[in-house]
Amino acid sequence: MSNLESILAFASDIAKQAGNMIVEMRAGSQLNHSYKDGIELVTNSDIAADTLITDAIRNQFPQHQILAEESNPDLSTIEHSDTPLWVIDPIDGTVNYAHHHHQVAISIAYVIKGKIQVAVVYNPFLSELFSAIRQKGAWLNDQPIRCSHTTEMKRAIVATGFPYDKSTQLTQLMARLQSILENCADVRRLGSAALDICWVALGRLDAYYETVSPWDCAAGWLIAKEAGARCGYFIEPVPPNTHELHSEHLLVCTPALYEPLKRILHDAQL
Ligand code: IPD
Ligand code: CA
Ligand code: CA
Repeated sequence: MSNLESILAFASDIAKQAGNMIVEMRAGSQLNHSYKDGIELVTNSDIAADTLITDAIRNQFPQHQILAEESNPDLSTIEHSDTPLWVIDPIDGTVNYAHHHHQVAISIAYVIKGKIQVAVVYNPFLSELFSAIRQKGAWLNDQPIRCSHTTEMKRAIVATGFPYDKSTQLTQLMARLQSILENCADVRRLGSAALDICWVALGRLDAYYETVSPWDCAAGWLIAKEAGARCGYFIEPVPPNTHELHSEHLLVCTPALYEPLKRILHDAQL
């Protein structure tokens, strides 16, 4: 087994452990809700999953860095990524989770010098494990996956999401959404950025765009890339943010639609 294969086996194992735990906690009605900054929902399962994953990594790889949404969301951690960096979203789709929906995932990425090497996104409610190793491919439960072959905008199903805080930027968000609705077949708001990106990788969706945080998209990014999707930005980042963990104005889609979608999202700027 190569080094990256053993990292993938380790990451898959802890994602499954965390996934089983959050399924059991929800089934056992053990959820407490609170709100970060008064608006962003977080449950005790988010904290418990974060603890399980980060403890396992610290135990196995005490020298590695960790960027994790609940326990260390400090983005400056990315700047010190000369040592391997783990990027963790312990529950992506917390609102879905708390409302007993199934679109929920554990997202784990392993990064070296700003480049994502290994990725795992696990939906424990559907038993779907998406994974990838850089330059080796992407898989759903061990089967190789490819993105869709859609070439016509009017046939494209496009996913997006909206920030918790809607007090600013709403007009801008609506302008982009309107432009997508005018040009594409339809829109989905499924509630988990990590799974939206994996669903583009699998061809269940043709495209995804949104501004998120690195832990939402890091693992999905590699999975989509390895499945043949094009990963980039509808507004190009400016240095020093030109690393793979940059997460603003993301656009992930089947290759033929990348340039036309980039143009309409960019032109929808107010
Ligand atoms: C959220 C989900 C959602 C996206 C939000 C994210 P969370 O993550 O990925 O789809 O629209 O921007 O914050 O809070 O459930 O981990
Ligand atoms: Ca998230
Ligand atoms: Ca989360």
